[in-house]
Amino acid sequence: PYAPTPADRFSFGLWTVGWQAQDVFGSASRAALDPVESVHRLAELGAYGVSFHDDDLIPFGSDETARDKLVGRFREALDTSGLVVSMATTNLFGHPIFKDGAFTANDRAVRRFALQKVLRNIDLAAELGAPTYVLWGGREGAESGAGKQMRAALDRYREAINALCAYIRERGYDIRLAIEPKPNEPRGDILLPTIGHALALISTLDEPSRVGLNPEVGHEEMAGLNFAHGIAQALWHGKLFHVDLNGQHGPRFDQDLRFGAGNLRGAFWTVDVLENSSGYPTAYAGPRHFDYKPPRTEDAAGVWVTAAACMRNYLILKDKVRAFRDDPEVSAALAAARVDELSVPTLMPGEALASLRAEEIDVDAVAARGMAFERLDQLAMEHLLGIR
Ligand code: GCO
Ligand code: MN
Ligand code: MN
Repeated sequence: PYAPTPADRFSFGLWTVGWQAQDVFGSASRAALDPVESVHRLAELGAYGVSFHDDDLIPFGSDETARDKLVGRFREALDTSGLVVSMATTNLFGHPIFKDGAFTANDRAVRRFALQKVLRNIDLAAELGAPTYVLWGGREGAESGAGKQMRAALDRYREAINALCAYIRERGYDIRLAIEPKPNEPRGDILLPTIGHALALISTLDEPSRVGLNPEVGHEEMAGLNFAHGIAQALWHGKLFHVDLNGQHGPRFDQDLRFGAGNLRGAFWTVDVLENSSGYPTAYAGPRHFDYKPPRTEDAAGVWVTAAACMRNYLILKDKVRAFRDDPEVSAALAAARVDELSVPTLMPGEALASLRAEEIDVDAVAARGMAFERLDQLAMEHLLGIR
């Protein structure tokens, strides 16, 4: 049991298993990994897809001949392994030219270079059949107060996304954009820090329907937010285009732990939202994508242990969530907590507000009713702990 298959639609970024574990305090602890090897290994482990930054595949500054060769080898690995490209994105943070951001860099030459870099990789994404293109604005931000004019930065952010949408439309590509929020790191403060901020920007775009979100578990939790609630709202807006699954222990640096590590209860409710549309028409339809970093302590073999664990933990949680939802005691507890009653509109169709005024409510009696949420939550806890 819990052996992943392509039908589970698990995918991984090349940069996750391929991370050499260099951090601010130390150099790499692992050797570079050939993307071709990653593709084969991920397929053997049961994944269905892979995602990449342009630079993961084609090192920055490669010439045309090198580029063609690298893309050719990658494509061949995809063909023989059966893995698909589930998403593509741009590295707009690694090279020092992006030290003050990309789309929102003060330096206009940087902004023009950034757009060019993205357009080029969108062409490759289309060629390789990626349905989603992620925009993570890691260096779109600031450390100081006066250095960045926030409203101008938002103008430029919007301008860039509008330009990308127009390009995709003109080319006739079947690609949607997904913005990935993050509150901080590598910048002191990053623009579009949470799901809510990104949703608000999307509503101001020229073609809002082409743009949605790629929320990441750890990023919302770094901001102290509830990830399951965040993706539920994204679904409610029809904007959960993609998801980055990983683990995080509360507000601190971006840990990028394997999925299930860190906030395990949060992971349980995350899987519940992703797997149960609860009667809503907007179920999550995208890949179960892992964006994590195998810790620096692990060697090459340990990397594949963590990748397998991400998928296994997801499947175990999916099982636990299903058992929770199928448990008759849970059904009774849900009824006692009046969970279904929230789906009944507060006013009847066409009801006049005047009729509310006439209504007699026994305030003391209503206030005295317990909500029985603790019983319900304990049942979830016991399912998660494996005793039910
Ligand atoms: C991070 C981010 C990145 C992005 C990736 C895709 O915190 O480092 O999560 O891993 O997801 O760059 O754009
Ligand atoms: Mn992250
Ligand atoms: Mn991410």
